[in-house]
Amino acid sequence: MSYRLLTLSALRNRLARQPRGAQQPNLAQHPAGKAALSLLKVVASAGLPLLLLWLAGCSNEPAPRDTHSPVSDNGEISSFFYSLLLYLDAAILAIVVAVWAYALVKFKKQAGDDTLPEQSHGNMKLEVIWTAIPTLIVVAITVPMLVGVFQMSKRHDPNQPVVEVDVTGKQWWWEFDYKSGSAAGLHTANELHLPVGTAVTLHMTSADVIHAWWVPRLGGKRDANPGRTYPMSFTAKTPGIYDGQCAELCGSSHALMGTKLIVHPLAGELEVDYKGQKVKLETYETWVREQQAPAKPPVAELEKGLKLFKERTCPSCHLIQGLEGTDIAARSATSGPNLTHVGSRMGIAANTLLNNPENLAKWISKPSAVKPGSKMPDGLVTPEDAKAIAAFLSSLK
Ligand code: CUA
Repeated sequence: MSYRLLTLSALRNRLARQPRGAQQPNLAQHPAGKAALSLLKVVASAGLPLLLLWLAGCSNEPAPRDTHSPVSDNGEISSFFYSLLLYLDAAILAIVVAVWAYALVKFKKQAGDDTLPEQSHGNMKLEVIWTAIPTLIVVAITVPMLVGVFQMSKRHDPNQPVVEVDVTGKQWWWEFDYKSGSAAGLHTANELHLPVGTAVTLHMTSADVIHAWWVPRLGGKRDANPGRTYPMSFTAKTPGIYDGQCAELCGSSHALMGTKLIVHPLAGELEVDYKGQKVKLETYETWVREQQAPAKPPVAELEKGLKLFKERTCPSCHLIQGLEGTDIAARSATSGPNLTHVGSRMGIAANTLLNNPENLAKWISKPSAVKPGSKMPDGLVTPEDAKAIAAFLSSLK
């Protein structure tokens, strides 16, 4: 079998040999041309709706997980580099497309001109230019980015007040143990409360598989690995409520392993907007005092819930500090969230459901329906019992 390579100049010669007046092939009549045209039509007609769909995602409002509205020093650094790369790449794209379009027009082959354009192979000047420019761009990105990486990995001065919290990822929720300051000894779950403008160091680890802590508006992610502890230091700059999400595939309910970061003002109450709702934030110290208080005994009509809570073995995993017979939960890798003030949380089941008695009853009566693979077993309580327990737990503000 022999191949004949049809070079461009041979093709040109062949076309040139075509007799004058011979019918020019009509592309629109050719099967391949027809297919190309209909494909173009489909792309054009799908393009408009797709464009509208894309534009529908545009908003001036900061979204709960918008990395472009940073609320911490780390978030500002991340956001800066995101913008730097975006604008730099957009400028490079614009320049390349402009030069390309200019070359298309300027160097278009003229009729009757068979001369080859000037060949640039081995042109030292050009080789130097198109090696130097990308090198400069990479240096311009890398140097400030390395500075940013070191800034984000900084440790706070231990002589300054620092809020230190041990953060443990568990399938599928987050446990927080406060280690310093007024909150030292506080043990809570899923909603991390911090003071604004204060240095914070989180010490990340995991009790089972690898998780990753990520509150997009706070900046980067940090892996939570079993058997290791990684620090993450930052200062939250804006009071508010910010959603987070486990960012490492960690099992069947990975997508349901949410978290919330609540940044409190240092003085006075503050009303903040959370997903279109007005929420009042007390000071960080007020929150700490409320959380440190033991749980109040339930009023008479909620006593049944407490009784069922104890009978159905809930205290073997869940701690309620201050109520007799409910503070036996061993602090182990398998123990569940501390429920001493569960009624004060915004969400339950790691931010999967809004915290209200109906959702709590739903969650308790059949955990696997809310969170597949949940360590809390199904069938511990009847739906009727679940309502009573939920009413009692909701009262634990
Ligand atoms: Cu934890 Cu994904």
